[in-house]
Amino acid sequence: MTGVGIDDISIYTPEYYYSLHDLVIAHGIDPNKYLVGIGQERMAVPPPDEDVVSMAANAVAPLLTRQLRDTVSTVIFATESGIDQSKSAGLFVHGLLGLNPHCRVVEFKQACYSATAGIQLAADLVRQRPMEKVLVIASDIARYERGSEGECTQGAGAVAMVISANPRLLELHPVSGLYSVDVMDFWRPNHRSTACVDGKLSIDVYLRSLAEAWADYRRKGGLPLGAVDKLCFHQPFTRMAKKAFAALSEAAGSEAAHLDESCYADSQIYGRAIGNTYSASLYIGLCSLLDRCGEDLGGRTIGLFSYGSGAVGEFFTATVKPQYRRHLRAEAHRAMLDSRRRLDGRTYAAWFYDAPSQAEDRVFPQESRGRFRLAAIEGQRRIYAAAS
Ligand code: CAA
Repeated sequence: MTGVGIDDISIYTPEYYYSLHDLVIAHGIDPNKYLVGIGQERMAVPPPDEDVVSMAANAVAPLLTRQLRDTVSTVIFATESGIDQSKSAGLFVHGLLGLNPHCRVVEFKQACYSATAGIQLAADLVRQRPMEKVLVIASDIARYERGSEGECTQGAGAVAMVISANPRLLELHPVSGLYSVDVMDFWRPNHRSTACVDGKLSIDVYLRSLAEAWADYRRKGGLPLGAVDKLCFHQPFTRMAKKAFAALSEAAGSEAAHLDESCYADSQIYGRAIGNTYSASLYIGLCSLLDRCGEDLGGRTIGLFSYGSGAVGEFFTATVKPQYRRHLRAEAHRAMLDSRRRLDGRTYAAWFYDAPSQAEDRVFPQESRGRFRLAAIEGQRRIYAAAS
């Protein structure tokens, strides 16, 4: 075995977006606050017939070979906007995609961090049993109170990754730095569909977690920042990466001298157009970096920082495989983003905020373009449909 890591990656985001140019008009503020100060241009908006399950199934579908369907040993579904308090969202995906019955399926939650726990546990499973492949999925809808400071950072999307031995894209290094602390910076009680947030505190805890996780990574023998070529941060909004880069540079001192803002710029392209995707955000950023970076990243080292409010932070590193470009889905991702439709303010509000309660039975008219969609709720059961 020559290492374990990400063998394949695919992202999905809804067909519809709301422009932040329209949101600044609605909020009556200077456009540069959202476009420059927050660093966002569009937010992906799911139509009523899309949820974290259908987005996840749509992210997984392109990478599902017959061999993967038959051999996947574990499915880890990371989300903080799940649809059931008991059943794992992964089981709906398992059924929709016809995965083999002899695998374990579980849902992970720790705000925006949980996909990283999924990746690290998946990597350890594969290190123990190198023939196994693990599917790690992250899918979220970021929703704040209407008119709140968080509204401009909303978004929706999913990412699916295959973790295997001899990966074709990225080999994960075994060292990672951790930091956990019990704090109320962002949370969502069970009865709420929108998040509660102490915005300024959340930024402070994010940056403290980065400095602490970085120190832990170095204490455990991790690489100096001088050996890292690119950086990819959890991005609730792209301006956060600028703050994170400044904090990491300060923590790493002279080791950061060779790096400037270009080392994370390509990781921001997808997030700026999609918005926050919570658990998926870091990995959509990673996909953006791999897909869109003009340089050949083969053999280069990427540093990744994962953050989930509440709070857990993890800093880890990975090496890009030499032939990685042959295995990317960059064109499909570009086509998906380029073909989206702009929503007017009325439809955005109706879909994001005024949708009827999902506690009642209803049939959803088809609005989504994905291969899988939420078709109805019947007797408290969610019924998904595959496009014919
Ligand atoms: N032109 C250019 N820049 C402008 C501007 C203008 N006209 N007007 C304001 N700005 C700048 C401000 O100077 C500020 O820049 P700095 O941060 O560099 O100082 C930036 O725009 C934002 O302005 P405010 O601080 O006034 O913004 P705000 O208070 O209205 O809200 C926020 C910002 C707190 C991040 C809010 O959007 C929020 O609560 N978001 C949700 C929480 C969040 O994303 N937290 C991030 C860390 S937690 C995390 O990462 C987990 C997660 O995914 C949620």
